Amino acid sequence: MLQEENKNPNKYNGEVLELHTDEAGSKTKKMFIESYGCQMNFSDSEIVASILSKEGFQTTTAIEQADLILVNTCSIREKAEQTVRNRLDKFNSLKRNNPNLKVGVLGCMAERLKHKFLEEEKIVDMVVGPDAYKDLPNLIAEVEQGTDAVNVILSKEETYGDIAPVRLNSNGVTAFVSITRGCDNMCTFCVVPFTRGRERSRDPQSIVEEINELWDKGFKEVTLLGQNVDSYLWYGGGLKKDFEKASDFQKATAVRFSDLLEKVALAQPKMRIRFSTSNPQDMTLDVIHTMAKYENICNYIHLPVQSGSDRILKKMIRLHTRAEYIALIEQIKNIIPDCAISQDMIAGFPTETEEDHQDTLSLMETVQYAFGFMFAYSERPGTMAARKFEDDIPLETKKRRLTEIINMQQKHSLLEMKKHIGKTEEVLIEGDSKKSADFFMGRNTQNAVVVFPKESYKVGDYVMVTIEDCTAATLKGNAVGYSKNN
Ligand code: SAH
Ligand code: F3S
Repeated sequence: MLQEENKNPNKYNGEVLELHTDEAGSKTKKMFIESYGCQMNFSDSEIVASILSKEGFQTTTAIEQADLILVNTCSIREKAEQTVRNRLDKFNSLKRNNPNLKVGVLGCMAERLKHKFLEEEKIVDMVVGPDAYKDLPNLIAEVEQGTDAVNVILSKEETYGDIAPVRLNSNGVTAFVSITRGCDNMCTFCVVPFTRGRERSRDPQSIVEEINELWDKGFKEVTLLGQNVDSYLWYGGGLKKDFEKASDFQKATAVRFSDLLEKVALAQPKMRIRFSTSNPQDMTLDVIHTMAKYENICNYIHLPVQSGSDRILKKMIRLHTRAEYIALIEQIKNIIPDCAISQDMIAGFPTETEEDHQDTLSLMETVQYAFGFMFAYSERPGTMAARKFEDDIPLETKKRRLTEIINMQQKHSLLEMKKHIGKTEEVLIEGDSKKSADFFMGRNTQNAVVVFPKESYKVGDYVMVTIEDCTAATLKGNAVGYSKNN
């Protein structure tokens, strides 16, 4: 669970918000928002906070003081949904103490369950899907009048490009900037295309403006977010799938992901640029060349593969083979030799045999990923896999295979981390180390966490750190001075 807080609620976009009693004598309303799941959800919560700040809602971290609780939910695996339901149970006692308290469910579970949510969870007053956040003021007004409110309409256009997010729980150094919404891939296991709709890209101008504003506020690193960033395509608005129907002029002036990366890298040459997530089938070589060309684009690619077996990749409708994936990794390593690569893996997809599982382990041995995010297959209602394939791998088998995958990743992470020992690397300081207030934590370009004694440096500085030791998750060293980028 992550509790979010607007660290500087008085300031928003240069305007001072009305935080106290207004002229009519009514009190400022307090909103508590918490987010689950992917980075996009955390980013969306910042958009929601922005929309509601204009309605007089101040974010609070004290849940018992809230007039409105919003939960931004995740549907990706059954466990994620269960976590949210357990959390909703907890809100019951709060409602008993404060009958005026309203509870809204946002995000992917809202979209997936729609009106059913109101029946299944009596505590819920409002159900709002990921494309309907601009309707929140109206929905809240309905709820305040005593009726339940639902808006789960998916949009062809909405990118929230015109909303300046209120940064929640921010370290003041790193921020997310969303660039696409939805997904047109139909990976058979995945619920995202159903909950977040068709793919559309955000106006590059608004992306660059947001990044310029972040730089002016002291931010030093942005992560461009999308379900499938390499598929970014701006031709004046509209769905990616309608690009065919665009005019010749629109086609000739279209902005692709590598163009966007270049624009952003040039707009703020000292801002670190990251992006997530890349789907191997949509990643093109021009993206890798652009990464190599600009020093401020970080040498790290999250490149989920899900399985090392061609048979399973086909059943997942991942539109590449194992050999094509390995060839892509080889090209990345040729062009950017020190590029870190991470994976997502699913253990126990329907019909997965021991041989398929061994293919996954052998792919991992071939690539030797720096990091990984690994999951047991969880059947999601409505997906093609749920409709067509029986969830036939026993839980024990899924868990055992998952453990083998995780153990191998641990081994590789340690080997990859050891490669940094003895090197002096640029680190952007993000805050205190979790373990000691005498140490800072930051990241190197490969996204590895680096911990070192604070000395006289401060949060947001770019420093050079000599790496002396490591675990599978953390590099440890000593700062030897500022980086030239400071
Ligand atoms: N393109 C997306 C992927 C979203 S889902 C992104 O931006 O991250 C994140 C990861 O969750 C996937 O890569 C996959 O490994 C995992 N996942 C998705 N659906 C799943 C399911 N039904 N069961 C288990 N893991 C799943
Ligand atoms: Fe899901 Fe595949 Fe898109 S994993 S988000 S359908 S790229």
